[in-house]
Amino acid sequence: MKGLILSGGKGTRLRPLTYTSSKQLIPVANKPILFYGIEKLIASGVNEIGIVAGDSIDEIRSTVAAAKWGKARIKFIRQPEPLGIAHAVLCAAKFLGRSPFILYLGDNLLNHDLKGFIREFEEKKLDGKILLTKVEDPRLFGVVEFKKNRIVRLVEKPKDPPSKWALCGVYIFNGRIHDIIRKLKPSKRGEYEITEAIQGLLENGYNLGHSFVDGWWKDTGKLEDLLEANRIILDAENAGDIPRTTKVTASRIEGRTKIGKKCVIRNSVLRGPLVIGDDVKINSAYIGPYSAIANGVTLSHCEVENSIVLEAAEIKDIKKRLTDSLIGKNVSILAVSEKPKNNSFMVGDNSRIVLGE
Ligand code: DAU
Repeated sequence: MKGLILSGGKGTRLRPLTYTSSKQLIPVANKPILFYGIEKLIASGVNEIGIVAGDSIDEIRSTVAAAKWGKARIKFIRQPEPLGIAHAVLCAAKFLGRSPFILYLGDNLLNHDLKGFIREFEEKKLDGKILLTKVEDPRLFGVVEFKKNRIVRLVEKPKDPPSKWALCGVYIFNGRIHDIIRKLKPSKRGEYEITEAIQGLLENGYNLGHSFVDGWWKDTGKLEDLLEANRIILDAENAGDIPRTTKVTASRIEGRTKIGKKCVIRNSVLRGPLVIGDDVKINSAYIGPYSAIANGVTLSHCEVENSIVLEAAEIKDIKKRLTDSLIGKNVSILAVSEKPKNNSFMVGDNSRIVLGE
């Protein structure tokens, strides 16, 4: 069984961060989302993995290559344009050959036993297998229609959904899917849809199996989902010891916390679950539950909670508590003490600023 992880796409809902980086590299609990997918496949016994990426392929390759993946072999495959999930599979045709493969959408986080999922596919000699979960708003997903417990139809982002059962971003196929994908036409939104290819499996009388998620599943395409994923992962993390190179003075550290190397923490309260990277400076600050603070961040005279703060950002002298936020790399949020006390911004396109009055 090969693995194919998709790490291309546009990431429009996470702009401006996705102007400069790929959404699958945004960290959740201080680890790129993409890494959770790679780890999941490896833990399920999949060691030959292809990662499909677009313009950000170099950044993805170097980030993945900097980590250790045991005996897994990882190959990077370029998708020249984000023309859809089925198109990404087509781009990987050479890597996949006719081998069965597990397709994993790189912005998905999943707590479901994929070993069992793969085993069922193999034992039942299926042509395709999908993973389903009930969602609040099925119009945002691929959706299946059941008749007498059998899937009879699949539709992508339906205006009028036939059920609340959505397709999660994990699928298994054998070589037959390629023959169907080659005949696909672009959908109304201009993409080659994997959901339509699966519909094609049904129409050709091939064997399609399904399972329901037994843990949790998150598509991290939006800020709210990222923060929720961050909470779920931090809730499951164990506390770590404070490294000897980290200096803590006149501070209180409560709850489950993981703190990196060479940090300086003074006059502060840290309340877990939270994770702090390396070389972080915290002075006279409160870092509340569900915060993930990346390497090299400076937090001084401020309060942060339920937020993800990326590398080398600095937040200083802010009176109001910062919550539910995603702060990009090298961003500065500072207060002025001199007059005039204006608000002054240098903010990228599609940013969002919510000021508490
Ligand atoms: O998250 C589950 C949903 O994922 C399914 O319910 C839908 O049926 C499926 O179409 C997909 O919908 P999304 O709108 O969430 O897909 P998105 O465009 O976000 O792409 C999913 C992943 O695939 C993401 O990591 C980016 C990657 N991708 C996407 C496209 C369109 C590529 O690598 N290349 C592409 O051309």
